[in-house]
Amino acid sequence: MTGLRKTIAVVAGDGIGPEVIRAAISVLQECARAFGHQFQFVDLPFGGDAIDRCGHPLPAETLDACRKADAVLLGAVGGAKWDSQPLDRRPEAGLLGLRKELGLYINVRPIKLLEPLRDICPIRLDEDESIDMEIVRELAGGIYFGPRKITGSNGDETASDTEIYSSKEIERVALYAFRRAVARGKRLASIDKANVLASSRLWRATVERISRDFPEVHLESLYVDNAALQIVLRPAQFDVMLTSNMFGDILSDEAAALVGSIGLIPSMSLGNGSALYEPIHGSAPQLAGKDSANPIGAILCAAMLLRESFGLNREAAAIEFSVETVLNAGLRTPDIARTGSRVVSCSAVASEIRAVLAESAVETENYGWGV
Ligand code: IPM
Ligand code: MG
Repeated sequence: MTGLRKTIAVVAGDGIGPEVIRAAISVLQECARAFGHQFQFVDLPFGGDAIDRCGHPLPAETLDACRKADAVLLGAVGGAKWDSQPLDRRPEAGLLGLRKELGLYINVRPIKLLEPLRDICPIRLDEDESIDMEIVRELAGGIYFGPRKITGSNGDETASDTEIYSSKEIERVALYAFRRAVARGKRLASIDKANVLASSRLWRATVERISRDFPEVHLESLYVDNAALQIVLRPAQFDVMLTSNMFGDILSDEAAALVGSIGLIPSMSLGNGSALYEPIHGSAPQLAGKDSANPIGAILCAAMLLRESFGLNREAAAIEFSVETVLNAGLRTPDIARTGSRVVSCSAVASEIRAVLAESAVETENYGWGV
């Protein structure tokens, strides 16, 4: 067995971030032990925690270490404690800054209904239907990064945010989404509001132009309001969904609700350098420190990281298998618990997943994973 040596920058952030990231790291460590790799984790201040410790949500030292690492693992940022900070000094500004500085313009959010959780899906699916889609969200542009302004005072203010997209920005993320669709079910739904917004007209025209190079992919452009409706009406119709920065933020939370909990969804951000992995849930300050958050989104980030950044398919499959096994055994954090489930803590879920992983890695050595 030839092991890999890799460095992972860890920006756990605020709220439940540190708890779920601790769980993910423990699974990565177990995985390294079982499969003979060496992962070094570098803890870095970030978000509100960094504001408290260093006076800035994205200290230069954190950014530098993230740039140098082979991959970045992020928890969550934000909390009421920093609500009064000006927009550019809030924890969220650290997150947007990190995405921008690392050149991360693609964000992939897999929305997959895990078989053991079929019974908690809030909508009725036909027996042969499932939910297995990927949202490819533009991450470095749009209204998140356009100029913003507040003028006036004393009840007579005006505020503006600006959605700006160039065809180059649309092209690079669209190309990725088409390639992702080629590798999956060959269907791409591109989301816009081209009946109202100029930026969306450019979005639609650019995506349609690129689609000529991908004749094997069936492209459909949908208005965002219709997409929001279709997601709850018939989610099984979607394979890859391409969105702008803001539409992807909103639709991914909506879609996450269909697979049981937002706590289950990992994500990967890609660009010019190292990739970044973060569960899509927020910092959930009301749950922080209670050891009851769902660590599965973060643990699935670990699997995604191993597969996509390190090419470790067997290891990623082993983690995903362990997650499903633990869910099949009926263990649930409170967010996905129903009558009859065994409600356990965040750390207990992680420790059960590690136990299955250790056991299955031994079996893999003997029989192989077949992947
Ligand atoms: C997300 C989050 C962030 C976003 C916030 C915290 C800035 O909601 O990653 O989905 O809007 O991108
Ligand atoms: Mg969001």
